[in-house]
Amino acid sequence: MRVGVVRETFPGERRVALVPGVLASLKKAGLEVLIESQAGAAAGFTDAEYQEKGATVVADRAEVLRQADVLLQVRTLGANPEAGPSDLEHLRSGQTLIGLADPLIEAAAAGELARRGVNLFAMELIPRITRAQSMDVLSSMASIAGYKAVLLAAAELPKLFPMMMTAAGTITPAKVFVIGAGVAGLQAIATAQRLGAIVHGYDLRPAVKEQVQSLGAKFVELDVAAADAEAMGGYAKAMDEDFYRRQREAMARVVADMDVVITTAAVPGQKAPVLITREMLTGMRPGSVVLDLAAERGGNCEATVPGETVQVGGVSVLGPVNLPATVPFHASQMYAKNITTFLLHVVKNGELQLTADDEITRETLVVRDGQVVHPRVKERLEA
Ligand code: NAI
Repeated sequence: MRVGVVRETFPGERRVALVPGVLASLKKAGLEVLIESQAGAAAGFTDAEYQEKGATVVADRAEVLRQADVLLQVRTLGANPEAGPSDLEHLRSGQTLIGLADPLIEAAAAGELARRGVNLFAMELIPRITRAQSMDVLSSMASIAGYKAVLLAAAELPKLFPMMMTAAGTITPAKVFVIGAGVAGLQAIATAQRLGAIVHGYDLRPAVKEQVQSLGAKFVELDVAAADAEAMGGYAKAMDEDFYRRQREAMARVVADMDVVITTAAVPGQKAPVLITREMLTGMRPGSVVLDLAAERGGNCEATVPGETVQVGGVSVLGPVNLPATVPFHASQMYAKNITTFLLHVVKNGELQLTADDEITRETLVVRDGQVVHPRVKERLEA
């Protein structure tokens, strides 16, 4: 079986689906790897390194697309709506794409692949279960985003993060508030702690209090009951607007006292909840920074503009997108490990198994044999 990897074409995307370090495990499983020349260049991996590990480097992209039985991508069609369609003419029925696909938002792309008989596994749909941890790309990429969010916020803030005792006086540490203590949030808390800030964390799932505290941060208790806020796999459930309103009211006091607020609140498959209003921004000191990691999903802050920094009454609101692509070396290393583990999970005796009797396969398989088979994607397609 031939595994193909092409250069990513989404604007600003610097990651690559496979790194040379994972090729040995594919070879051991009897898989041949074709890689488009320069596919890893933006992430810091040279053609020679791939070749040394046994891959065949191919100059012509269309050739890789045509020859591969399985294509591993960071962004498949659904997650690359502008540049992705130009690859379609080279794909053929019976091939399989594995990668990020944004299937619950860009369901039409899954429909397009189905029409062409191309199978699709969406890496976003890997279930958050212990067995699949080493395949969980959302978690690995969220860790990177949480880390990078703190660096960006620190660079924007007109203050220092750590306490400094100098001959020119003592500098008080910055106060950082991380809202949403999932994967990105916990990594943001850990990073801000390392930089010496006084860190506060909050989440509507009470279960994460201990994790926040174990990182040395203070857990903020808000007087809004959120019994039953936890869904399967450590994700939050969607709450009603009345809950979010009460939450914002309770949070306004805390936010006003912070130098940096990093928001990471997310509910799977839903628009991000709005937790910071414009009014709350006006209550913050000028020079404060809000960094909204949920920018791509509508934003946790009312003023967020995806991909931009806006000023609201002297407060900078950052809405960075695709942060993992700004750390492409390690993001690719982690992504490659996740996707390789997944691929080896679905390959038996050198052949891809598209049968859905296993939870990991069933949950991630979106298109098989010309049909959109994933119930939630099908629902969105028919809506
Ligand atoms: P996650 O699901 O692990 O964590 C989200 C956390 O938010 C959960 O702990 C949940 O309980 C909490 N939450 C939900 N509603 C809340 C509310 N009303 N109040 C307080 N907490 C609430 O998600 P993960 O993987 O940490 O991702 C976080 C966000 O970062 C997502 O929006 C994701 O799309 C985004 N992200 C952004 C990137 C970028 O480059 N901008 C890259 C990677 C992730």
